[in-house]
Amino acid sequence: MFVTFRRLRKCQCVQLMSTCLVLSVVMLCWEQLDTSVVSHFKSVSFRYLVNGFSLVNKSLTIPREQALHFSNFPYLLDHPEKCKNQDVLLLLFVKTSPEHTQRRNAIRSTWGNETFIQNSLGVTVKVLFVLGLPVPADYSPYRDTFGPQEQLEFEDKLHQDLIQQDFFDSFHNLTLKLLMQFHWMHKRCAHARFLMTADDDIFVHMPNLVQYLQDMSRQGVTDLWVGKVHRGSPPVRSKSSKYYVPYDMYQWPSYPDYTAGAGYVVSSDVADKIYHATLTLNASLHIDDVFMGICASAVGVSPKEHVYFSGEGKAPYHTCIYNQMMTSHGHVEDIYDLWKAAAHPGQKEKTLGLFGRLYCSAVKAVLLCRPYYTNTYPCKAAFS
Ligand SMILES: *[C@@H]1O[C@H](CO)[C@@H](O)[C@H](O)[C@H]1NC(C)=O
Ligand SMILES: *[C@@H]1O[C@H](CO)[C@@H](O)[C@H](O)[C@H]1NC(C)=O
Ligand SMILES: *[C@@H]1O[C@H](CO)[C@@H](O)[C@H](O)[C@H]1NC(C)=O
Ligand SMILES: *[C@@H]1O[C@H](CO)[C@@H](O)[C@H](O)[C@H]1NC(C)=O
Repeated sequence: MFVTFRRLRKCQCVQLMSTCLVLSVVMLCWEQLDTSVVSHFKSVSFRYLVNGFSLVNKSLTIPREQALHFSNFPYLLDHPEKCKNQDVLLLLFVKTSPEHTQRRNAIRSTWGNETFIQNSLGVTVKVLFVLGLPVPADYSPYRDTFGPQEQLEFEDKLHQDLIQQDFFDSFHNLTLKLLMQFHWMHKRCAHARFLMTADDDIFVHMPNLVQYLQDMSRQGVTDLWVGKVHRGSPPVRSKSSKYYVPYDMYQWPSYPDYTAGAGYVVSSDVADKIYHATLTLNASLHIDDVFMGICASAVGVSPKEHVYFSGEGKAPYHTCIYNQMMTSHGHVEDIYDLWKAAAHPGQKEKTLGLFGRLYCSAVKAVLLCRPYYTNTYPCKAAFS
């Protein structure tokens, strides 16, 4: 009786130990398994894209002289010397509209303050606001002695940070603004290590972003295009949508992968490739981030997901989120408060240590892992 009991215990013990062993082996291999499954999927879809793209490419390739019409608008405001003789880590373009003066001022005195970035982070970031001509209709209720264009010139005298080309600043001209950014960098600031394009209503966590880019730069990264990735999005075929794209403009059932236009970063080698792609593509497709995807697939660059680029979503307010956030979309009124709360130098120390990390994982899981919670950071961001 006693012997069987002991044997039983021994048996159970062996069982328990082997279960543990199997479990730990699975856990050890999980990451590898996970990445190999993911990369397999990626390569399959990438191949699909490449094969599909020669068709897309052919349908959108036009002669150089004609492609030039999308990018050779004269500059009305420009700063040719902006980057000269400086080691620029990041050239940051903010897509703005003439009437968004308050948004620009908010950015200038918060995350886009070049002097503050230089002093507190020790790197050179150049922030430029990119715009077109004021559309007359947008200003009809105003009765200024100054016209809207004169106001912009005045603002530019004060801050020296607007670049403007001679096309109407409208939603349907957004792709012209995209071309303007890549052409400007090519001409004036090709030595910047990274280019970022951002909406004027996003919040950029500059200290986190700078640290990330410095790490990337130290690793000598190339082929980097990072943001919130949209995969296999289909074109909108409903005429009432502002994203409507007719078949003769884009006939294929899905767009190439692209990053949400709210904010993404490319390394300088990618910026150069995109510039060259724009020289032979028909840029009449007005959705700028989709067009960026088309250019990128023409030169064989694919986007990389970063869980803390928010895309169109707004990040939850919490210190644990601020620790890792890169961008968050939809901030206008709260930008000053968020800047104070999120980018204050003392912020990080509060959540260091094992206990801090466990606490933050729990908080982030509660904030991000909810059903029907899409758009901002995904659930897996809670565990990264
Ligand atoms: C796109 O088309 C151009 C001109 O036809 C060609 O030079 C280029 O190699 C094509 N790119 C891809 C990825 O098929
Ligand atoms: C930018 O930061 C500098 C240094 O911290 C500060 O003196 C300046 O007032 C700031 N600019 C704006 C527009 O807030
Ligand atoms: C885009 O800008 C051009 C040049 O100013 C203008 O002719 C055209 O009407 C604009 N397109 C839209 C859709 O606003
Ligand atoms: C570019 O695409 C537009 C929309 O499909 C088309 O109307 C236009 O003719 C194309 N441009 C060239 C130069 O082929």
